[in-house]
Order: sequence, then C-alpha cells, then structure tokens
Amino acid sequence: MILPIYLYGQPVLRRPTEDVEPGELDVKQLVSDMYETLQAAEGCGLAAPQVGLSKRLFVVDGSELVEDYPECADFKQAFINPELIEESEETSVYSEGCLSLPGISENVTRPKTITIRYLDEDFKEHTDTFTDFKARIVLHEYDHLEAHVFTDRISPIRRQFCKGKLTNIAKGKTGARYKYKR
Ligand code: NI
Repeated sequence: MILPIYLYGQPVLRRPTEDVEPGELDVKQLVSDMYETLQAAEGCGLAAPQVGLSKRLFVVDGSELVEDYPECADFKQAFINPELIEESEETSVYSEGCLSLPGISENVTRPKTITIRYLDEDFKEHTDTFTDFKARIVLHEYDHLEAHVFTDRISPIRRQFCKGKLTNIAKGKTGARYKYKR
C-alpha cells in the first residue's frame, strides 16, 4: 500500500522517535509499504516519521540511483532501532533532496564513512560500515529519526534562501507528484 508522505510543516517530522518493540507493530507490512511508497515517489530513502510514525525505523532503496551510483544497485534494506557508532572525520559534500521537502536541493556536508548498528526486519542485529553515497543516504534518513531535516544542516544564508520555498511547502504549494499529507 502506498502511504502519504508527510511534508515539511507536519509536526511529526520534528517529534522525537521511539524504539520499535518486537510485536508492537507489523514491521514486515510497514517495511513493504514503505518500499512501495518510496518506489512510487522515486526516492532512495524513507523514514518512519515521513509516513507519520514516530518510530526508529527507515528504509533505503538505491535502485533509482544505479546509473550514477552502480554500487547502490542492491542497496535495499530496512534499519530498525539504528544507532550510529562511528563517523569518519573525513567529510564529503553533496546536493541532497528529500521527499518531505519537494523542490529543494542544497549541498550538505556529512561524514564520508559511518558504522551503524541496527536490526533488520527479523530483529536480527547487524553492524555495518558504509561509505560515500550509501553513508549519505543512511545519515540523511537517520537525521529524520533525530527530528532533523537536511535544511537544518545548511548554512544560515542558504537556509534564508530556502525559507520561502519551505513556507510554500508547509502551505501545500508544491509540485510533488506523489501522494502526500501536509
Ligand atoms: Ni528526507
């Protein structure tokens, strides 16, 4: 089932998230719905707050990016109750967008390499290290669990520049072609 994506201005994007407890919700159904939603919106990552849930869960799917980032071809997985355990001092800069902030893309500086501990949808624990584009997707989604959006991480001047666009999104003036809620 395709879920509506909550846009900038929705309070849930600024709310702290809670761990997913085993059995508390149908995680497999939720993950499957989030993959479907992500695919329909042609995105590469989606976090639970973006579908209205204050839970520590996100999914990634790199299949949209294969042409530019072949290493993302099979990068499709769920991260439940993730915990960042290491971030490199080395950083990279890349222009990011977000399904909750349609029409905005800005350069964001992030660590180049990260190590993250998380559960998969069978609640099995993993610790993985990701670099470059994979690390960036994971960090962007992880930010959503910490009640951040990527424009929190841009320079004050660029944020000022985006202010009008953000206000318009919150008012529902958006060209988003996917199902959304504002
Ligand atoms: Ni996002």
